[in-house]
Amino acid sequence: LDDPAVDPFEIAAQAASDIARLTGVDHHDIALTLGSGWGKAADLIGETTATIPATEVTGFSAPALAGHVGSLRSVLTPTGKRVLVIGARTHYYENHGVRRVVHSVRTAAATGATTMVLTNGAGGIKESWTPGTPVLISDHINLTADSPLEGATFVDLTDLYSSRLRDIARTIDPSLDEGVYCQFRGPHYETPAEVQMARIIGGHIVGMSTALEAIAARQAGMEILGFSLITNLAAGIQKTPLSHAEVIEAGQAAEPVISALLARVIEAL
Ligand code: 6GU
Repeated sequence: LDDPAVDPFEIAAQAASDIARLTGVDHHDIALTLGSGWGKAADLIGETTATIPATEVTGFSAPALAGHVGSLRSVLTPTGKRVLVIGARTHYYENHGVRRVVHSVRTAAATGATTMVLTNGAGGIKESWTPGTPVLISDHINLTADSPLEGATFVDLTDLYSSRLRDIARTIDPSLDEGVYCQFRGPHYETPAEVQMARIIGGHIVGMSTALEAIAARQAGMEILGFSLITNLAAGIQKTPLSHAEVIEAGQAAEPVISALLARVIEAL
């Protein structure tokens, strides 16, 4: 994937055939990327028929962070939908290049998935969002100054986070709020001034993932649903310093509730 002469879609096709071989399932309907706080959803959406270490699949790298599980699962829902659960996210801040960041999305598309559900843990800019609040992503602002698209590939990003799928999510939980996600490079959290900038340009959520993945999913023709778990308020909105431990803890505390919500949403898609 690091070689510019290599076609990333060819690698994704190889990865999809690895998944078919290792799971015994040659088609998935939905793909779900689990961000911090969302992990339990994998157990609630259905029966896991196969779990494979991501390192056995072409193009996937080993997990960079404890708490980010490096595995892929094939899950069968009660109504017979096949979900590819991706517990192996490569973040942009890992410096492995944007091709690696979106490889799981392209692989999911190559397995046949036409719906991409992207989840993350993120900081909130709206003071009404207490830690543990799940929020639908309505749109994004990509502040990485990068793109997964190579060359002159002009892709429309209107309704990137499908309003149809957001409506379905709200049939499960009508109280779900939504907001614009700003992807920063990280891995540091934003300064209070950067958070104010994000607010002024129309952002409500700050994080370090998802936007680049959503662009790749749109390029692949998938319909996208995005969820952020607000683990904390962003710097300057929250008066106390941020800590990674606090973020992980808030994710763990919210996990049972939001995972149950996500499982019900997946079943309704
Ligand atoms: Cl405040 N910022 C970013 N970029 N990511 C986060 C976060 C904040 N809180 C959780 N994840």
